[in-house]
Amino acid sequence: MIVTIDGPAGSGKSTTARNAAAELHYVYLDTGAMYRAVALGFLRADAAATSEAADRVLPALSVDVSYQDSAMQVYLNEEEVTAHLRTAEVGAIVSDISTLAPVRDYMVEQQRRIGHEQAEVHGGVVVDGRDTGTVVFPEADLKIFMVADVEERARRRLQEYEAAGEHISLAEVQAEIEERDQQDRTRDIAPLRRAEDAVEFDTTDCTIDEQVAFVVNRVKAHPAWGT
Ligand code: DC
Repeated sequence: MIVTIDGPAGSGKSTTARNAAAELHYVYLDTGAMYRAVALGFLRADAAATSEAADRVLPALSVDVSYQDSAMQVYLNEEEVTAHLRTAEVGAIVSDISTLAPVRDYMVEQQRRIGHEQAEVHGGVVVDGRDTGTVVFPEADLKIFMVADVEERARRRLQEYEAAGEHISLAEVQAEIEERDQQDRTRDIAPLRRAEDAVEFDTTDCTIDEQVAFVVNRVKAHPAWGT
């Protein structure tokens, strides 16, 4: 079974998808982390977010994931980089990097392969991102589109930065999120939007447990559950 959760930054997708996957004994595929690994590759190559740079950098760059006790690890050119992806430096360029067509083509190909392989092995996969229900897995069994007020999303993202030891103000985080939303929604290729057959879920006033329960209940109510 393939379950997609798309939505803007800070809507609660990642934690919800990770915990729901654990409860269902599925695996979690974080497509944002894969884009972040590509962005880290660009940073390390000192490359700007242009298609010329992509032509130079991408052929020498590989991104893959592996699972250890169902936790996802991300590899950039075979080096484990999971702990280096949620930094402000990567956050500042990842949206630009993710607008590049060759980057998206490579990511979609890898995500489809990993998703199908993992669904085969574990019975299901919960994928989160921006275009997972529209482009990567248009045939997904269940699609959820998560939204939340921007102030609440900024507060959540600030906590993540603080947990990573980065100190930045709430206003700065909110401005960054608003800019990123705008860019993700208006880009030409695979913009952030709700798939027609996705269920919209507003998480502004929800706890993580409520969000996870929403997803788990939807999955268990699905005809493909347990087949
Ligand atoms: O969810 P996140 O903040 O880790 O995502 C990082 C960036 O990657 C975000 O700017 C949008 C982009 N992204 C995307 O374009 N498509 C996806 N499926 C996932 C993320």
